[in-house]
Amino acid sequence: MQSKISQYTTEINAFEPKTAEELETFRIKFLGTKGIIKDLFDEFKAVSPEEKRVLGKVLNQFKQLAEAKFNDHKDNFTTGDAQSKKEDLTLPGEGFEIGGRHPLNLVRKEIVEIFKRLGFVLAEGPEIEDDWHNFSALNFPEEHPARDMQDTFFVQKPTNNSENTAEEKGAYALRTHTSSVQVRLMEAGKPPFRALMPGRVYRNEAISARAHCFFHQVEGLYVDENVSFADLKQTLYYFVQELYGEGTKVRFRPSYFPFTEPSAEMDISCTICKGAGCQMCKQSGWVEILGCGMIDPNVLDNVNIDSKKYTGFAFGMGIERITNLKYQIKDLRLFSENDVRFLKQFQTEVI
Ligand code: DAH
Repeated sequence: MQSKISQYTTEINAFEPKTAEELETFRIKFLGTKGIIKDLFDEFKAVSPEEKRVLGKVLNQFKQLAEAKFNDHKDNFTTGDAQSKKEDLTLPGEGFEIGGRHPLNLVRKEIVEIFKRLGFVLAEGPEIEDDWHNFSALNFPEEHPARDMQDTFFVQKPTNNSENTAEEKGAYALRTHTSSVQVRLMEAGKPPFRALMPGRVYRNEAISARAHCFFHQVEGLYVDENVSFADLKQTLYYFVQELYGEGTKVRFRPSYFPFTEPSAEMDISCTICKGAGCQMCKQSGWVEILGCGMIDPNVLDNVNIDSKKYTGFAFGMGIERITNLKYQIKDLRLFSENDVRFLKQFQTEVI
């Protein structure tokens, strides 16, 4: 047995396969289920216990040698294959994935572009907002139930001693709407104003398919002499035609917001069923997309704009809602889960 092993050892040491087939033949011959090593181990069972002590070691080393030879060359052949693939310039490239824009960003950009064509400029404000800009200046009287229209996340004011005083409590909040930016803009400048204010807003709501604790809005503001409700209607009508295509119908329903008078909500004919009735529009043929109105004179007074001389309109819309109607997305949570399978579907544009 020992002489057989040393003979095979010489053979294995000398073995240099040139092809994958040669290596496979080697594997079957030595390492296969009916191969030489299997035979040797069978033979080994029959030898005397004294011999076993010496032979066992020799046999195991031999097995390791055969396995090592096979593994060495196996690796060579696979890398060799991959290399030759890379060098074949006629093969199609492997391609690499690039990131895309988030659907909410795509839609926000589209909204901004449309209003830019009408001369609106962009403005921004902070997400942590004080009571004045988020509520009081917008004509939400203190203790007025209108404040409950929006469930607010209040923010602790940093103090040296940890507890906030009663006054400080409720002094700061995560903004509940982008209307706060209107106030900041009007305080900082002089009319006329024609601005669009996109941003993230927060509400203390349980997360579900239809509600989230944060979402995105675009606020619009137009203040000048002689601005009328007709201007508001025409502006928003143009916006809808541009965004959802010509022929999309609009209708205005009376509504209430503390900062506008009169106030309205605007519906558009359902983009999915074109007004015939479907799940998205709850069979009504119409879907609400924004709130709007003529700026309440109290708001203009609050920011030191002469409400006798100037009038204006404002509107606010949720970007998620606009996006849902465009892409038929039924679950708001998809927007913030970062599931690549969802996000990939919007890679329409190279950045
Ligand atoms: N801020 C309102 C909301 O979040 C939306 C809104 C309604 C904004 C009417 C406006 C407006 O500017 O005029 O529900």
